[in-house]
Amino acid sequence: MAVATTFLLLLLLTTTTNSAPTYTTSIPANFTASHFQFIDQSGDFLRSTNRTYTAAIANPQPTSPSFYLLVYHSQSHTVIWSANRNNPITNSAQLRLSNTGLTIHNDSGVPVWSTPPIQSTVASLQLLDSGNLILVDRFNNTLWQSFDFPTDTVVSEQRFPVGKSLIASRNPADFSEGDYSFEMTTGDGMLRWRGLTYYRLLMDSKSVKNSNRPVSYLVVNGSGFYLFGDPGSGLVAQILITAPTANPGYRILKMTNEGRLVVMRYRDNVWVTDFATPSEDDGCRVPSHCGKLGFCSGGGCSCPPGFRGDRSTNGCSPSDASLSLPESCDSNSTRQRSNSSEDYIYVQLGKGMSYFSIGFTNPIKTGMDQSSCEDLCSANCSCLGFFHGNPSGSCYLLENHLGSITSSSNNGVNDPLGFIKAISSSISSRDLDDDSNSDFPVIGLVLLPASGVLLISIFAVWILRRRSNKTVSKTKKSMNGSFSGELEVFSIAGLPVRFDHGDLVEATADFSTQIGSGGFGTVYKGVLHDKTVVAVKKITALGAQGKKEFGTEIAIIGNIHHVNLVKLKGFCAHGSERFLVYEYMSHGSLDRTLFGSGPPLEWQERFEIALGTARGLAYLHSGCEHKIIHCDVKPENILLNDNMQVKISDFGLSKLLSPEQSGLFTTMRGTRGYLAPEWLTNAAISDKTDVYSYGMVLLELIQGRKNCVQATNRSSGNPTSSTDGRSSGSSGSRNHPRPRSFYFPLHALEMHEECRYLELVEPRLTGRVSKGEAEKLVKVALCCLHEDPSLRPTMANVVGMLEGVLAVGEPRLECLNFLRFYGRRFTEASMAESGAEVEMPNGFMVATTDNSSSPTASLNSFSYMSSQQVSGPR
Ligand SMILES: *[C@@H]1O[C@H](CO)[C@@H](O)[C@H](O)[C@H]1NC(C)=O
Ligand SMILES: *[C@@H]1O[C@H](CO)[C@@H](O)[C@H](O)[C@H]1NC(C)=O
Ligand SMILES: *[C@@H]1O[C@H](CO)[C@@H](O)[C@H](O)[C@H]1NC(C)=O
Ligand SMILES: *[C@@H]1O[C@H](CO)[C@@H](O)[C@H](O)[C@H]1NC(C)=O
Ligand SMILES: *[C@@H]1O[C@H](CO)[C@@H](O)[C@H](O)[C@H]1NC(C)=O
Ligand SMILES: *[C@@H]1O[C@H](CO)[C@@H](O)[C@H](O)[C@H]1NC(C)=O
Ligand SMILES: *[C@@H]1O[C@H](CO)[C@@H](O)[C@H](O)[C@H]1NC(C)=O
Ligand SMILES: *[C@@H]1O[C@H](CO)[C@@H](O)[C@H](O)[C@H]1NC(C)=O
Repeated sequence: MAVATTFLLLLLLTTTTNSAPTYTTSIPANFTASHFQFIDQSGDFLRSTNRTYTAAIANPQPTSPSFYLLVYHSQSHTVIWSANRNNPITNSAQLRLSNTGLTIHNDSGVPVWSTPPIQSTVASLQLLDSGNLILVDRFNNTLWQSFDFPTDTVVSEQRFPVGKSLIASRNPADFSEGDYSFEMTTGDGMLRWRGLTYYRLLMDSKSVKNSNRPVSYLVVNGSGFYLFGDPGSGLVAQILITAPTANPGYRILKMTNEGRLVVMRYRDNVWVTDFATPSEDDGCRVPSHCGKLGFCSGGGCSCPPGFRGDRSTNGCSPSDASLSLPESCDSNSTRQRSNSSEDYIYVQLGKGMSYFSIGFTNPIKTGMDQSSCEDLCSANCSCLGFFHGNPSGSCYLLENHLGSITSSSNNGVNDPLGFIKAISSSISSRDLDDDSNSDFPVIGLVLLPASGVLLISIFAVWILRRRSNKTVSKTKKSMNGSFSGELEVFSIAGLPVRFDHGDLVEATADFSTQIGSGGFGTVYKGVLHDKTVVAVKKITALGAQGKKEFGTEIAIIGNIHHVNLVKLKGFCAHGSERFLVYEYMSHGSLDRTLFGSGPPLEWQERFEIALGTARGLAYLHSGCEHKIIHCDVKPENILLNDNMQVKISDFGLSKLLSPEQSGLFTTMRGTRGYLAPEWLTNAAISDKTDVYSYGMVLLELIQGRKNCVQATNRSSGNPTSSTDGRSSGSSGSRNHPRPRSFYFPLHALEMHEECRYLELVEPRLTGRVSKGEAEKLVKVALCCLHEDPSLRPTMANVVGMLEGVLAVGEPRLECLNFLRFYGRRFTEASMAESGAEVEMPNGFMVATTDNSSSPTASLNSFSYMSSQQVSGPR
């Protein structure tokens, strides 16, 4: 039915060719709209008189199936209001304006949202230049206005009255109501998490209270927040943000899904956060900052004593594996449980541990001893813990939801002590996690593999939730895929910010400090106005298609957050140029650390890098909404931060390459690089292609040098030749003198057959690595190299094997024989003179060209293999 409708609509659209034009200012009653009807305008159906605002039926992200009636700021594409935020519709569902009001219908014609009943006859719908969407009668009297029903945003000069709330979205891609809200009361503005107050506006250090009269409404303008009393009674309080400037830009007040009330300014195409409360320094004020029962201190997260990290809840749970946290009866887990208090065990939080709600609620009772307080909690299934204070005997119950634990501000002896309710269960799923003192070793062992799989899937979910809590200026944008090649007026869903070209020129001092270059372009170091150091990538290899899809791809990449993936901070489209702005990684890429001349990486560091890389890739493959195949896994794309933590870069970009560049990209590496055999055989490229490349990287991590060492007598320009020379020399003392050209994967296979794993490890680590450790990594690497992609483990399985929750696979020799062939070919090809050609299987040619004349010589990241190209009939 829906398909048929869609088809008909498409037919209609293709035959009539032009969709309905966008109205300006006003639409008379008896009007209908759907996204499809206005598809040429991206769903825009009404603009305000001077075009500052647009009303549309659109989706928050180009790929999102959820459509909303919304009003957005035209220039920044920031959504300031949405009607059906909890009831999204499809792109063919209808908005109807009749003389009784506005309704939104789903595909079956059932209303999912409507304006409240209106007494008079509606004459028209109008969008004012203030951003207010209104219904008026024929005398232009306002009958209904969107300003009376704010969602999560208040615009400059909009009055936000007492009693109204701003409810944050669940996330930038989902407008439905999330956990955080801001409510204006007569005394103050309250920030709440799941109904519990955790901050007040006037607690902010910048606030100034002028009187104790009740507040009537709040206004934000170019200089700050103003809380006004009843008409005539004047200003009650204010928070000054900045002195008025000549060009203040466009400002909004917004409750973010990260629990902060922010004022953002849009100027020169960039969002800047002028004000955020609680402030970044007060990060622990945000109740979910460290997840459930996570201990937040100084903005950092850990688990309180007696608790340990729990991936399934993105927080902490009791270390004692026989204890589990009860579900609140409030959340419909109808698991039948006895009510008697003997079943509960209370885990005490240490001294100095507090909880956000204690500062904002009164004790349920005072003058109570601890055990009575405990009984109160045990008697009510919505109670999840309590705090008890002496000598007042105050008893605070923690009900329905648990947030993060904070450190108490005054380390006094009289601080209430916290107790968390737990259920003692002999067998809980957590037993299987890691506990050596488990009472049920047999069961633990039997269930281990299953729990591993479970853990991995949970891990993906955990990662998904573990988003950065930083308040970054951001745009929320409704957008669909129909923008043209020009990107001058467009902004992106999710986090990345659009940068002004001038700002990037300034930040990079006119692109003066180049810090790298690769298949996609050149990377420059830059420093933004707010002193953050960034890496600015100028994309040079963008094809026409890539330009067109730039926005879509950036929207996807920008929404991917994982500790092991580099964060995209923003982008810039300037004429035909495209730039990406990433967080800057102080330690550069892995190849520098691994192959450079510094001290060798310790084995544990190598292991962490291997694990981090595997986690990042596993997330790309299965953790995020869109499966992303990296296509270019190699040490140059594995960056390291201050703590030597892995951050994978360049993911999601392969689709943007021009055909010529992607040809290069797919044919560059051949037998010697990280490129899987399927690149050469026209077989499908899948996530297993990345697994192969990962296996190659893992081998390099083990041995501390490149897999393909070539005779380097004439490639003096090759920056890595000296490294290779050194390591070649150091390995000369081994039993197996190496030929001048050397193909390590084959060597690894041979040593594996002879169980001589330690001989594969970086010689400088001799004595510091156990055979078992070496064996594990070598076996994982070889399994990743299996010729048949379907026989390679998934990245999630690799994570499991490295973490020890999955048994390490046994490499299959029959799937690795191709390495013998590659190895032989490699040495032969390396010996061949410049320009010689060596026949490859499947009709492929290996053309060896001189480094200096190679068209790819400028691509540094490929240079260590650029003296050879494998080209295929593509
Ligand atoms: C809208 O339609 C209703 C019922 O079909 C009709 O009574 C009314 O006059 C129409 N209004 C306008 C402005 O066309
Ligand atoms: C429209 O909403 C009604 C009532 O909620 C529901 O029964 C129906 O399945 C919905 N139709 C579509 C296509 O979603
Ligand atoms: C549009 O009108 C609003 C309200 O009158 C005004 O604040 C804004 O500056 C105007 N914008 C433009 C682009 O004229
Ligand atoms: C109502 O407002 C519209 C749009 O501003 C205007 O065109 C129209 O003349 C107004 N009608 C009356 C009766 O004031
Ligand atoms: C904002 O409003 C306050 C109070 O009405 C006023 O004093 C201030 O000048 C206004 N600032 C700007 C930039 O309009
Ligand atoms: C619990 O179930 C009731 C009825 O089944 C439902 O209305 C309510 O929304 C549910 N609450 C939660 C938190 O899922
Ligand atoms: C738990 O308490 C509820 C309400 O007091 C009662 O209806 C229920 O029967 C009790 N369940 C058990 C297992 O005692
Ligand atoms: C448990 O606590 C909740 C929240 O305070 C309250 O609404 C409910 O009535 C209590 N239930 C019992 C059985 O006391």
